[in-house]
Amino acid sequence: MKIIIINGPNLNLLGKREPEVYGATGFEEYFSQLQMKYKDIQLAYFQSNIEGELIDKIQEVGFSYDGIILNTAAYTHTSVGLGDAVKAVTTPVVEVHISNTFNREDFRHVSYISAGAKGVILGFGLQSYELALQSFL
Ligand code: DQA
Repeated sequence: MKIIIINGPNLNLLGKREPEVYGATGFEEYFSQLQMKYKDIQLAYFQSNIEGELIDKIQEVGFSYDGIILNTAAYTHTSVGLGDAVKAVTTPVVEVHISNTFNREDFRHVSYISAGAKGVILGFGLQSYELALQSFL
């Protein structure tokens, strides 16, 4: 089984960025733990701060992988292009957020991704990614 985690803007700063919201663990460290725990799964990781690169990656993997775990971060709330990319591919996409976007600012209550996603998991910290992974098993 081939699953990819795709992270959007500023998530390269996890561990340093607003730790009271996003926690103190960097994503690379968390990803290594996930890989060790789920050895039978081919788990890939991609991060970009650039909207078009995220769209390119979704298109690249979206007809061959078994699952995409997608945290488009701030673009979640703005990007018609990313929402369209999720709808365009055949690989199921699970939308993930570390924080509970619904108990934050109003602009975070809107997602251009959710309508095309298989499901949405949010608010469980980094564990949101593992819960999304388990949804594909
Ligand atoms: C986020 C929530 C977004 O609103 C925010 O812009 C992010 C991270 C999350 O994982 O909680 O960068 O997607």
